[in-house]
Amino acid sequence: MTNADVFARNAAHEIGLYSRQPLALARGSGCSVWDADGKRYLDFFAGVAVNSLGHCHPAVVEAIRRQAGELLHVSNHYHTAIEGELAELLCRHSFAERVFLCNSGTEAIEAAMKLARRWGAEMGGGRYEILATHGSFHGRTFGALSATGQEKYHRGYFPLLPGVRLAPFDDLDAMEAAVAPETIAIMVEPIQGEGGVVVPKPGYLRGLRTLAERRDLLLIFDEIQTGMGRTGRLFAYEHEDVAPDIMALAKALGGGVPIGALCTTDRIAAAFTPGTGMTPRAKTGNASSRTSARSRMTPSMTNAAIPRRWATAHTLPPAIA
Ligand SMILES: Cc1ncc(COP(=O)(O)O)c(C=O)c1O
Repeated sequence: MTNADVFARNAAHEIGLYSRQPLALARGSGCSVWDADGKRYLDFFAGVAVNSLGHCHPAVVEAIRRQAGELLHVSNHYHTAIEGELAELLCRHSFAERVFLCNSGTEAIEAAMKLARRWGAEMGGGRYEILATHGSFHGRTFGALSATGQEKYHRGYFPLLPGVRLAPFDDLDAMEAAVAPETIAIMVEPIQGEGGVVVPKPGYLRGLRTLAERRDLLLIFDEIQTGMGRTGRLFAYEHEDVAPDIMALAKALGGGVPIGALCTTDRIAAAFTPGTGMTPRAKTGNASSRTSARSRMTPSMTNAAIPRRWATAHTLPPAIA
């Protein structure tokens, strides 16, 4: 099949949701991808921050291959060893003590928002409001969309989820002024990614932490873009030496396989008990995505290895360098 064949078939049968580049990619390796006509490209796009180990990293490929031959899916009605291994790794390398695994970033955000609401209902005196920021991006499902501070994504989808309000990003005074008696949580990306790369002033994350303590709020960091070493530390919050109460992960966590994770502390996780939090879902216990993430999270790929991996990932193939 050529590029032209692929375009024609996709145009004939897919719902036209995306304005795509005129390229049909057929395979990838490291920083390179090849189109259906066999032409090679250097991939600076990395699947929107997903392929941070490059395409087809051998450890990830081998882990998925092995898992596919053993067990692919059991649902979350059963235990598997792999989900505990991944949760343990995430806890060992972050502030978290508890992890909920799901399938995407937007699901991790929905879980974070539900946990904040549940916490507000159980322990927060009935408070429910989540403050997010202008310019943010948190995903496309209704809760995440409502917290996304970009009008272009809202058009045609009103009414959005009530109880979500936006405040300016990187403005501690404005955030403090926005806190209302019903506010339970503040949710921010440590660095905004989707509306341009917006790095807040030094001290912003720390200031939000202090504000959250002072006003008894939960602090949610969306590290779906920034997590897994993309800012030079495993998680961006480490740059300011502060921890959130809740963190959403996805994208680079899976090494190319769809996965999301909600990370939190024992204290906050206590608000989710069986049957009250995320409903049992058929796809949530998928062993292959957990295996891929675990292989991607192996000790050689965690914090200590990030500078080395950074250098490796940015070594251009000899033909291009
Ligand atoms: C900061 C941030 N949060 C959430 C999401 C949503 O993640 P997903 O596309 O996996 O649903 C994205 C995706 O681009 C993102 O950049």
